[in-house]
Amino acid sequence: MKNKSDKFARGKGDLIKVKKQKPKILVIHGPNLNLLGKREPDLYGEKTLETVHEELEKDSRRLGIEVEMFQSNHEGAIIDRIQEAGEGCAGLIINPAAFSHTSIAIRDALLCLDVPIVEVHISNIYKREPFRHRSLISDITTATLSGFGTEGYRMALRAMADMISESI
Ligand code: DQA
Repeated sequence: MKNKSDKFARGKGDLIKVKKQKPKILVIHGPNLNLLGKREPDLYGEKTLETVHEELEKDSRRLGIEVEMFQSNHEGAIIDRIQEAGEGCAGLIINPAAFSHTSIAIRDALLCLDVPIVEVHISNIYKREPFRHRSLISDITTATLSGFGTEGYRMALRAMADMISESI
């Protein structure tokens, strides 16, 4: 069956099919998000990170994009992954978790990217302790979603797919 994203090119007298690469969205999760499902379920819900990833994978197939997930409890590892995202990623969805409130280094790494960035928080950080009200990245991201539970990742992915298709 002909895929919508396939293009045809002429080669040696024949029409040959050229597979168009799907745009890739990277999803980064910060510290303690590996414990989703077990960690403070009243705040963060009962879905595990694995389930969240499976849902995003499913959505990405429908949206005609590719999605790659990365989680780390280490600031330096997150910065390394953000730097790598500069090559080959069409957009970044990031929940820096506690680093949102502390990491100038993650902010600086994000400033080097030239793709849309959507910040996601599972909980509504503005309804919580005052030290969570300030995110050091919100003013440099394309958009922020906070308080939609893990559904926020899916919303961010759909928005990202729209943004990317508008910019192609
Ligand atoms: C969080 C909110 C942060 O304040 C907290 O440190 C997290 C998760 C959220 O998704 O709601 O770890 O980013």
